[in-house]
Amino acid sequence: MPSLSNSPAWKQFSQAVLSSPSKPDALRIITAAQLEVDLTTQRSSKELARAAHALLEQQGFEQYRHDLFEGAKINWTENRAAWHTALRAATPPVAVAEAVLTERARLAKFVEEVNACNQYRNVVHLGIGGSDWGPRLAFDSLAGAGTRRTLRFASNVDAHAITAALEGLDAHDTLVIISSKSFTTTESLANAACAIDWLRANGVAYPLDHFAAVTANPQAARNFGINEERIFQFWDWVGGRYSLWSSIGLPIALGLGIEALNEMRAGAAEMDEHFLNAPIEQNAPVQMALSAVANRSVLGYGSFALCPYDARLGSLVPWLQQLEMESLGKATLRDGSTLDVPSSPVVWGMPGTDGQHTFFQWLHQDGKGAPVDFILCAVPDHRHTRHHRLLIANCLAQRAALLEGKSFEQSLKEVTKTEKDPEKAAVLARHHVHPGGRPSTLIVLPRLEARQLGALLALYEHKVFTEGVLWGINPFDQWGVEFGKRLAGDIERRLDALGSDPAVSPYDPSTAYWVRKLASR
Ligand code: F6P
Repeated sequence: MPSLSNSPAWKQFSQAVLSSPSKPDALRIITAAQLEVDLTTQRSSKELARAAHALLEQQGFEQYRHDLFEGAKINWTENRAAWHTALRAATPPVAVAEAVLTERARLAKFVEEVNACNQYRNVVHLGIGGSDWGPRLAFDSLAGAGTRRTLRFASNVDAHAITAALEGLDAHDTLVIISSKSFTTTESLANAACAIDWLRANGVAYPLDHFAAVTANPQAARNFGINEERIFQFWDWVGGRYSLWSSIGLPIALGLGIEALNEMRAGAAEMDEHFLNAPIEQNAPVQMALSAVANRSVLGYGSFALCPYDARLGSLVPWLQQLEMESLGKATLRDGSTLDVPSSPVVWGMPGTDGQHTFFQWLHQDGKGAPVDFILCAVPDHRHTRHHRLLIANCLAQRAALLEGKSFEQSLKEVTKTEKDPEKAAVLARHHVHPGGRPSTLIVLPRLEARQLGALLALYEHKVFTEGVLWGINPFDQWGVEFGKRLAGDIERRLDALGSDPAVSPYDPSTAYWVRKLASR
């Protein structure tokens, strides 16, 4: 087997990317689960479409997609399925239907009961990574008039986070949820211990009665002392960063209503249908993935920016950072060899228009820049029409400017209006040149509702999955995170053992120095 870069389909694909125009001659908009995905300003041509087909075929895309939906063990380094699509299907696949429907019903019943008793005005959610970003993003995006409870999140092991989350709450009216797939994660358990102390200090005689848990390790939750009725389960075939669709959605159901969680699942399921059935040219996740691979591996962009032009979608940036970088930040192929094209761009970003006043200068005039995903809602949930008009205008203007650029001739014409010295004008005009031809994708949601948010998240999940297939890497493991976690455990033990002998430290001199120095404080 030739390496990816030496394979015939890759050669054809990369040549086609390079020879396709960077400025469009026709609209390329795909409608998927009510979202409109505008790929007009990404490279495209008939030749590229043909080459993309061949590359997908060479990389076994159809088989992998089939296996994803069938629950085959496509997470090959951990010998597990990655069956998050089963969690949001209206009718889950037979093999897991009973388990999925039972947990869905248990969760709904619990939410109904606490609502009926008007219990818990406050919910504090303790989880990290995939056990945090999804519910946090959903709450940040959808909280509004229909919000039912105060919902706070603490993820970080820095105690400032949990202290702030508990601040000012009535302990007697607070439910604490520990969300942890493994139920061994240091951050979440350390924060849970803080919450127990806080409940006790505030007069709650049986703090554990104020807890619920969501986990794939129910025995550990039982051992922790959480009431069986309040342990909601998911399974090892659900990856952490895809767990939002499982009982990890509990805080969404408590904070925004069970309908919101169900609608998010329905929107994601609609996107699943699209991903499974739409022809390749009209398949939004597939086309986004092809553009991403072209931008990263052929055109050499090392990162891409996510700029939602909707302040409510600020948490989409870290959510996508985890999805993209934890899934794709690796370079070992199935047979153990190393991928020989650049993969996994860095993801960064900020909502517009703040981003414009922060990093857009770089996007416009850096020597290379980065592709941008713009996200816009056609209709807002406020009545300030001028604000929304301004928001749309700014989003479209940035995108057009990145594409069009400004030539030296145009710049000179502008500059000479005020600078009459031709030599000085020529120098100044160079500072005004914008290269243009910079790729972007625009995703337009009809409005930011639970259903559309679900569809948006599933769009990115399938995009990332397809990138994994195209590069030949497993997007479902995260050995790098595990490695760092283990070292942190060892260093914590050393920090505790005051005066541990640096001579026997297995670490580099700098780490050994700081362990010794900071332990003594
Ligand atoms: O970041 C790595 C990771 O393992 C994620 O995949 C997971 O979502 C997160 O840590 C938290 O782990 P857990 O849910 O087991 O507490």
